[in-house]
Amino acid sequence: MRYLTFALTKGRLASKTLDLLGKIGITCEEMQDKNTRRLIFVNEELKLRFFLAKGPDVPTYVEYGAADIGVVGKDTLLEEGRKLYEVLDLGFGACRMCVCGPESARELLNTNQLLRVATKYPNIAREYFFNQRHQTVELIKLNGSIELAPIVGLSEVIVDIVETGSTLKENGLMVLEEVCPLSARMVVNQVSMKMEDERIRELIRKLRASL
Ligand code: PRP
Repeated sequence: MRYLTFALTKGRLASKTLDLLGKIGITCEEMQDKNTRRLIFVNEELKLRFFLAKGPDVPTYVEYGAADIGVVGKDTLLEEGRKLYEVLDLGFGACRMCVCGPESARELLNTNQLLRVATKYPNIAREYFFNQRHQTVELIKLNGSIELAPIVGLSEVIVDIVETGSTLKENGLMVLEEVCPLSARMVVNQVSMKMEDERIRELIRKLRASL
């Protein structure tokens, strides 16, 4: 039997994924060691391999078939736009992609003035403003702490993830519009889905039953 390889998103999503896999009897003891610098972990008995990657790299590994299966946030899937099958909503990591800003930006959103939109997700923001709202905006790509942008005058609004809303609140910002709901998804390489049909279907069935 060949190994089925999983690409997991480093951090909180990975530990929630391992908890979920544990519930259906898939464990990887090697991976529990927090201090290890190893990058890939094997469960010999079940012929499974696991590795951790940065979120935006997970769909890349899966599209190219370096991983058969990936677990990654819907935000990353939308932003990366890779060719793969999204097979399961895992429910955890639930949050929302939103347009946010100070109250004063609410009006600006509905005028024809050229808005500046700061975001870590330029493709999602472009799709939302240009294709859904039919509004031309200037997109400014940032890599983190997006909430800073409207505070220091880099942009009028941001497109970012809102989970509890506390980052917005602590910085005097608010949700102005919701773009879409998000959560962790399981994705599968298109060829693997055909070649390993039975094993992957069985896995999906068990995961679904335990959710
Ligand atoms: C995310 C997101 C928001 C925050 C939302 O940032 O970009 O800043 O979490 O969470 P909240 O609504 O519960 O406050 P993250 O901590 O991942 O880091 P980043 O700012 O570097 O992207």
